[in-house]
Formats: sequence, C-alpha cells, structure tokens
Amino acid sequence: MRFKNRVAMVTGGSSGIGRATALAFAREGAVVAIGDVNHEGSEETVRMIRESGGESQFIHCDVADAESVRRMVETIVQDYGRLDFGFNNAGIEGTPAPTGEYPIDIWNRVIAINLTGVWYCMRYQIGQMLKQGGGAIVNNASILGVVGFASAPAYVAAKHGVLGLTKTAAIEYAARGIRVNAVCPAFIETPMLERGGITSDPETRAVMEGLHPIGRLGRPEEISGAVLWLCSDEASFVTGHPMLIDGGYVAR
Ligand code: NAI
Repeated sequence: MRFKNRVAMVTGGSSGIGRATALAFAREGAVVAIGDVNHEGSEETVRMIRESGGESQFIHCDVADAESVRRMVETIVQDYGRLDFGFNNAGIEGTPAPTGEYPIDIWNRVIAINLTGVWYCMRYQIGQMLKQGGGAIVNNASILGVVGFASAPAYVAAKHGVLGLTKTAAIEYAARGIRVNAVCPAFIETPMLERGGITSDPETRAVMEGLHPIGRLGRPEEISGAVLWLCSDEASFVTGHPMLIDGGYVAR
C-alpha cells in the first residue's frame, strides 16, 4: 500500500492502459479519480476498484476542453483535499494516411487530445501541486514520441510534443517538488489496437509482433507498473525521463 491517503488522477481510465493503471493505483491504496468521455467504461473501472475495496470516482472530462479539465482538478481537490499524481493518458489513434494527404480535421483532433489535452491536464495539476508542495506527473507518450511511423503523422507529432512538454515542465518544477516523467510504450494490446485492425487481423498482428525483438505485443499491466514506480518515492531522483517500455522496439 505505497500510496495510502494519496490521490491520483487518471485520464482515459475507461479502458486499456488507463484502466490497468487506475486499478494498480487503487491496489496500492490511492484514491483514483477517472477522467474520460466514455461514461460506461469509466463507471466499470470505478466498479472494479470499489469491488476490490478501493475508492474511486468518475468525473466526466474531455481533455481537449480546458474548462472540463479545470473542473475535474477542482472537483478532485474539493472532494479529497489534494492531488498527488497525474497520469495523463487519454489519447486517440487518428486515421492512417501519409503526411501529404492527412485529413486536416483529424490532424486537429489528434493534436487537441493527444498533445494539447496533456498540456491542459499538466497546467491545472501543476497549479494544485505547487499549492500543496509537490506531486508527480506521468504523461503517456509512446515509442512514437521517439521514432517516426509511416502514415501516423499527427499521432507521431503529438507524442514527440508530449516528450518536449514533459522535459520542459520537469526542468521548470524540479526544485519545487514536482517530478514530471513520461512512459513510451510500444504496441500494447488494448482496444486502440483492435480498432486499428492490428490485433484483430492475424497477418497484421504477426507483422507488428515482429517489430518487437521480444516477439510479442505488450500488455497494459506492463505499463502500469512503470507508471506507479515513476510516481513512487523510489523514483525520487527521476524527472524529465522518457521511459521506453517497448520489448526492445527502439533498440533495433
Ligand atoms: P484505449 O482506446 O483503450 O484508451 C484510450 C482512452 O482515452 C479511452 O478510455 C478513451 O475513452 C479516452 N479518451 C479518448 N478521447 C478522450 C478525450 N477527449 N477526453 C478524455 N478521454 C478520452 O487506448 P490505450 O491503448 O489504452 O491508449 C491509452 C494511451 O496510451 C493513449 O494516449 C495512447 O496513445 C497511448 N499508447 C498506446 C499504445 C498502444 O499500443 N495501445 C502504445 C503507446 C502509447
């Protein structure tokens, strides 16, 4: 119970990596506030946490809307008095298309959620963490924050941006007790990959698995452990770090 009496905010907690991380925070004793646009999935995560004896609530939050994010942080502080950890994880995949043909509306949406949304969360989390004397933020970037990927220009640009933001905020707030890090997962088995046809089509799946020297895709629980470690006191000297959790993908 590393995080007893601590409060965590997880965006995108209705499924995939966000849900696994919300459950992991709760297992370690943290109160978990889940911000998402998917009410059904989020309520299910809350139910799973409560059934195993934890404390959690769903707060509707569209990370692309600054006012929605501001209200979520305000509600957390009203209800629990503090905010110790932010896992800024909500994201979308966009559509596959090369840079010269990428649909402008989808570009804008991907940037709004995957990049600006992370900044909105950081903006309000940092305000509260400064008031209370510290905290830890982990942004969910991707290996595609480190390397390119054909036909995903908006996603790749947003995730590179998330790492830039992470490093900048880490420098700005290191002396004031806020650590800011990022996780960079490779391909992880979540609904996002199902939608993209990566796990549903056996041939595509085999190609994707082959990109990982470890020979398989990752599991959400293999990301949540790293997020918790980055939030914990064991990582007290770690800030501005883009942590690859990628089965060797980037090492090739
Ligand atoms: P997912 O689709 O299961 O989860 C995404 C979550 O974000 C959902 O709960 C969804 O409702 C929520 N969301 C979408 N738009 C939102 C908005 N405007 N406001 C609030 N919540 C919103 O996908 P997954 O894979 O769990 O993705 C989580 C994060 O991990 C994303 O940022 C993704 O880019 C990142 N990631 C995923 C990888 C993968 O292979 N699955 C690899 C590397 C990074």
